[in-house]
Amino acid sequence: MNFTRDIPQHIAIIMDGNGRWAKERHLPRAVGHREGIQRVREIVRAAGQMGVKVLTLFAFSHENWQRPRTEIAMLMKALDHFLDYEVRQLHESNIRLLIIGRDDPIPKRLVTKMQAAQAKTAANTGLTLVLAINYGGRQEIIDAAKDFARDVQANRAQLNSLDEQSMSRYLYTRGLPDPDILIRTSGEQRLSNYLLWQLSYAEFYFLKKYWPEFKTEDLAQAIKAYQARERRYGQISDHAETAD
Ligand code: IPE
Ligand code: IPE
Ligand code: MG
Repeated sequence: MNFTRDIPQHIAIIMDGNGRWAKERHLPRAVGHREGIQRVREIVRAAGQMGVKVLTLFAFSHENWQRPRTEIAMLMKALDHFLDYEVRQLHESNIRLLIIGRDDPIPKRLVTKMQAAQAKTAANTGLTLVLAINYGGRQEIIDAAKDFARDVQANRAQLNSLDEQSMSRYLYTRGLPDPDILIRTSGEQRLSNYLLWQLSYAEFYFLKKYWPEFKTEDLAQAIKAYQARERRYGQISDHAETAD
């Protein structure tokens, strides 16, 4: 298998298991999240070097607001810290940062920082790093439906013209290719409201390791598994005999 061949253009990851990783080591959950951010740094670098074009990481879900207030505050602080200290490095590495999800109820100050970070890196031509923050797939589809309805009302769009391509342009991920592979760590095998529209033909790769244990070799392993899959998109196998 030639590893350099058929590198997925877009990899989506559900970074799960920070809390359990910490708990098993009798450490506070915050340590798990801190360790998780280290892995983000490494995986972003590795993905860029491997030639991946887009890497989308689930950092905070629409449903994560239901966690205890102290945990939410800690995660928001970690995000704040990431924006303060990592964005310069991303920029120097020619990485474009995109953030997808709803602004509300993220603290205004953070939203402003998120916008500034995206503006700063907007013209970069290397890896596109997409962070899903306060993101929910159903919420994204609702927002798209509302935007489209508004355009129809204002005569900017025709009801009958809506198709898969134009619908994609109403999503937060407009302009990006759909993910080729979804990776989820921690052993859970569910989508948790992640990229519902975009993952319709992605290959799924689940592994037991917790996110703080996810290394560059695991990413390479996932890509290898992806390369061994046959993506049929509803057709019959390339190798199948013609039906008689
Ligand atoms: C993933 O780890 C990170 C976020 C959801 C922010 P978790 O915090 O979900 O860790 P577990 O699943 O409780 O172990
Ligand atoms: C999904 O993980 C969200 C992120 C990784 C940010 P969760 O840990 O919140 O998912 P559930 O609740 O186990 O489905
Ligand atoms: Mg979890």
